[in-house]
Amino acid sequence: MAQLLITGGAGFIGSHTCLVLLEAGHNLVLIENFSNSSPEALRRVLELAGPKAKSRIQIVEGDIRNSDDLDCAFSIASSPIEAVVHFAGLKAVAESFEDPLDYWDVNLGGSRSLLNAMRIHGCRTIVFSSSATIYGYPNEVPISENALVSPINPYGQTKAAVEQLLADVAASEPGWKIARLRYFNPVGAHPSGLLGEAPHGTPANLFPYVSQVAVGRRDKVEIFGGDWPTSDGSAVRDYIHVMDLAEGHSAALNVLQQEAPQVLTLNLGSGRGYSVLEVVKAFEKASQKKLPYIITSRRKGDVACSVADPDLALKRLGWSTRRGLEDMCKDSWTWQMANPDGYSVEIQSLI
Ligand code: NAD
Ligand code: UFG
Repeated sequence: MAQLLITGGAGFIGSHTCLVLLEAGHNLVLIENFSNSSPEALRRVLELAGPKAKSRIQIVEGDIRNSDDLDCAFSIASSPIEAVVHFAGLKAVAESFEDPLDYWDVNLGGSRSLLNAMRIHGCRTIVFSSSATIYGYPNEVPISENALVSPINPYGQTKAAVEQLLADVAASEPGWKIARLRYFNPVGAHPSGLLGEAPHGTPANLFPYVSQVAVGRRDKVEIFGGDWPTSDGSAVRDYIHVMDLAEGHSAALNVLQQEAPQVLTLNLGSGRGYSVLEVVKAFEKASQKKLPYIITSRRKGDVACSVADPDLALKRLGWSTRRGLEDMCKDSWTWQMANPDGYSVEIQSLI
């Protein structure tokens, strides 16, 4: 059990991970600016974690780029922060081409401020949300952690830069314990239907888009490219259930806490790829709906196939995914039906 700081804890992956960490007995301080999330997600985390959880979570509404907000987050708990789980950031690939300044500011600038605050407050353990997008066009699939880091979009460039910054910080001073977790495609939802992904506006990603077609909010799925060099011509991804991903963070924290200082770099994926057409079919089965689709041209910046080599995560964390595509579709559908407009409830106060 430890006192942890979670940045971006109300977001899609953060909310599910906060629940898993509370269930594991940790005490949490969150720093969140709610730019892409709702306080309602945190109310639901507390609902799922049980009545005693409320006293084990503190929320600082603030920005990771602001040193006063960070000082507040590091000082608010009665015991020192022992480790940080750093989710806060901007994550939309297309948007990163339009607003590179914002992406570098929040993702790199925010991470720099956070690391500086960690140094000031004597905390040297951090788990960072990196992304498989840093591999760009992979030379080999499945992709191992030794593959070339060669991002092809500004979002990926910012993630690769933070990975480098973390390595430089670790080399500059002994004692740093760092996990750089490269997520493949996080999808799904908590099986209760209380937590899930609630994108603002038109979803950019496949699963939320398909869910919205199934629930009748959109007419049809657009499949970006039917001429990829894959078995059915649609692109292949390694989808990972968000609860598996949340458990991967808990495992990474345990390993960092138990082992000597190090920089641990791990893929978090299943090792199994599914094509877009396979996802659409699996979602039809889970939702019992026919999902109309059309095949259109390829999307800028996409790759044919991205699948993790998950062996190192198994070896180092004793962790592997437990939930398959059927669970991902079933849980996304439960969430979508119960929350067709996402976290639409406005709440005034949490604690
Ligand atoms: P999300 O947008 O749902 O969560 C990010 C959270 O950070 C949001 O709650 C947002 O309000 C908060 N935030 C953003 N800027 C902030 C700032 N300056 N200060 C404080 N809080 C801020 O995204 P997610 O899907 O949960 O992703 C979490 C992390 O994982 C991100 O760093 C993302 O880049 C990374 N990642 C996500 C995916 C994915 O497909 N979802 C894949 C690979 C990596
Ligand atoms: N796709 C469609 N139609 C859609 C949306 C997506 O056909 O409406 C296709 C894409 O072309 C791609 C696949 O579905 O082939 C998956 O696309 P997503 O947008 O869901 O996911 P990406 O693989 O493009 O990227 C995601 C996140 C990135 C992250 C990356 C690796 O968006 O932030 O996974 O972790 F970096």
